[in-house]
Amino acid sequence: MRVFVTRRLPEHVLDRVRAIAETEVWPDEMPPSAESLREKTAEADGLLCLLTDRIDAQLLEGAKRLKVVSQMAVGYDNIDVRACVARGIAVGNTPGVLTETTADLAFALLLATARNIVAAERYTRSGEWRTWSPMLLTGPDVHHAVLGIVGMGRIGCEMARRAHGFSMRILYTANRTHEAAERDFGARQTDLDMLLAESDFVSLHLPYSASTRHFIGATELAKMKSTALLINTARGAVVDQTALVTALQAGTIAGAGLDVFETEPLPLDDPLLLLPNVTLLPHIGSASHATRTRMAELAAENLICGLRGEPLPHPVTA
Ligand code: GLV
Repeated sequence: MRVFVTRRLPEHVLDRVRAIAETEVWPDEMPPSAESLREKTAEADGLLCLLTDRIDAQLLEGAKRLKVVSQMAVGYDNIDVRACVARGIAVGNTPGVLTETTADLAFALLLATARNIVAAERYTRSGEWRTWSPMLLTGPDVHHAVLGIVGMGRIGCEMARRAHGFSMRILYTANRTHEAAERDFGARQTDLDMLLAESDFVSLHLPYSASTRHFIGATELAKMKSTALLINTARGAVVDQTALVTALQAGTIAGAGLDVFETEPLPLDDPLLLLPNVTLLPHIGSASHATRTRMAELAAENLICGLRGEPLPHPVTA
């Protein structure tokens, strides 16, 4: 059997795959082009891919041997799952192992944006720091503020746990009530309008799909407090980024902390880069040593089960 792995992964993970299949690993730092991906996948029984690889019907058309697509990420909006399922190709992802690490980053982004950590760090290095100054680099308090969590899945619930530790009042939107989060963290389920109107911080934890595209647009931003901050560690296109820039420029909301963007990497001429009231990160939600290693291991486990025709530990269904 043959496997194509679209980026270098820890050697012990690759060794597990090599033990059962002839394994080719894309050697570059940059992802394979659509053409290279098509060429390599045409020969493969298994594909281990990342969110930067587009797995669409056209690619699958030429991949006659393919049995499994294993994604090293929890989100899988880069994969046409329906097209995979229609061809009997199993799809796997890596949920669970990155939940707390991603919630840590989301909370760090919230704190950093509220307390001007990036600007303060630059200021410290710049030579401008001349004395302790009463109102220098002041921002809103995080403790006892209201956090609105949009999407109360695994990561949203872990965000609530962190917020509870900071004595925050927690509102959330979800398609079901989360009794444990209500009991343990005092979280309260609301509709989106109320969450937007009452929250000092709005943190997005929704998967991206056609139904969540531009979930937060001009209308929703206008419903937020002018002092509020928006935190997005989900997917860039959950927010209408053009509307967000306009809202930030106009003072409709006070700031944003973003780990994800509609186009990644964020183009160097993007207007977000000119705004002072944003913290911008390069999609590093799950980037701890242990979590990225565990994600690679889990992706290998999904891949190996798929190659053997066994049920995947973490299957994705259409
Ligand atoms: C990262 O964004 C992931 O979906 O795992």
